[in-house]
Amino acid sequence: MKFTVAIDGPAAAGKGTIARSLAAQFGFGHLDTGLLYRATARRVMDGEDPLSAALALQSSDLRRGDLRTAQVGQVASKVAAMPKVRTALLDFQKNFARREGGAVLDGRDIGTVICPEAEVKLFVTATDAVRAQRRHAELSQKDPALTVEEVLADLRARDMRDAGRDTAPMTASADALLLDTSELTIEEAIEMAGAAVIAKMAV
Ligand code: C5P
Repeated sequence: MKFTVAIDGPAAAGKGTIARSLAAQFGFGHLDTGLLYRATARRVMDGEDPLSAALALQSSDLRRGDLRTAQVGQVASKVAAMPKVRTALLDFQKNFARREGGAVLDGRDIGTVICPEAEVKLFVTATDAVRAQRRHAELSQKDPALTVEEVLADLRARDMRDAGRDTAPMTASADALLLDTSELTIEEAIEMAGAAVIAKMAV
């Protein structure tokens, strides 16, 4: 059975939480595509050129413990704007999307470029203030001096770059269900996303 759930949206809107939960609920594989760009960025920060870094990625790169920092996120959004880097990562994502047994992918271009034929497409958003609060709560555990304002500025810079680039910009596919999680609990957001999957499975 092939069944793809494509989840796109800006940073810290709740995509990852929803994706992991849907994958567990329906027994689908999950790919956090942001990790591909973060792992590429990490290699670039260590001195590799962006295309070689993307082509050399191994699954061990995705398990590195230092990928979730704001600094890696910024470099990731710069390498992600390079068409040759995106092309190098395309087939792996496309194959994962159509794997047997179902797949959930979260990122920026899943419903538009990686898997336009996805059975369910969600575009997950939240206000800038809510996203900054959420990401701050996560990152300040390791970096107590970090302020919400710094996190907000970081998210906005990344979102502008991701939405403004020429190749595969972050944008909602015309047939995506818009899910604004600003006023929702995690459970409510997961339930709404799950309902969209169940509705499509019943067709
Ligand atoms: O989702 P995450 O914040 O980990 O993604 C890091 C960066 O990777 C994003 O800011 C974006 O530039 C890039 N990205 C992308 N396309 C995807 C997933 C992530 O361009 N499908």
